[in-house]
Amino acid sequence: MPNQIKIAPSILAADFANFGAECRAIEDQGADWVHIDVMDGHFVPNLTFGPATVKALRAHVKTVMDVHLMITPVDPYIEAFAEAGADILTAHVEAGPHIHRTLQAIRGAGMKAGLALNPGTGIDGVETLLDLTDLICVMTVNPGFGGQKFIDMTAKIRGLRQMIGDRPIHIEIDGGVDPSTAPSVVEAGADVLVAGSAVFKGGSVDNPAPYGQNIAAIRAAAEGARRAA
Ligand code: DX5
Ligand code: ZN
Repeated sequence: MPNQIKIAPSILAADFANFGAECRAIEDQGADWVHIDVMDGHFVPNLTFGPATVKALRAHVKTVMDVHLMITPVDPYIEAFAEAGADILTAHVEAGPHIHRTLQAIRGAGMKAGLALNPGTGIDGVETLLDLTDLICVMTVNPGFGGQKFIDMTAKIRGLRQMIGDRPIHIEIDGGVDPSTAPSVVEAGADVLVAGSAVFKGGSVDNPAPYGQNIAAIRAAAEGARRAA
């Protein structure tokens, strides 16, 4: 994949009372995308926020709003996330029986379509979806919470990268990414790294420099692995 490594901080680890300022801070500090975790308390055992919050954030995000839906059903909310200004909308393959229709609808609403796979889900069946998919999100934790322990999915990432071939599809890794875990996933073929705790630790909107140091450390570890690969 010729793409540069992209670092996408997850605002799940941000100060929820300061989302706008947090988004501006991480972008000023070098984030490539902003990763926004939408949870419904049903598909995953946690609740965050919906399209109204994403819409309110649009004015504060200059780069890419990468919206990760951990909800079911997905289809009734696609239009609302398009109107909210999401650039990438990712749905879980486990969220329902008609992921093919969902991916079509996401693209039809003018967004890039992402497909997320839980750690327990294999890659059989993904091949028939590749021509509808712009990004595959490989979960390296069971979704629902930040700060969980990284689960090794390198065999799955390698299999996907091979399956993708020349298609322009990102492989995004979500969960437990930090400078120690980033190299193995990049070497296996990932090019987008989501990180919550590892980006926001030690900083705040009043003291954003640690965000920049944390982003730079993840990027350096990832780029080192890519050069070595
Ligand atoms: C987990 C979310 C992740 C989460 C990652 O369900 O999808 O985006 O915020 O957090 P860390 O990087 O702390 O594992
Ligand atoms: Zn996520």
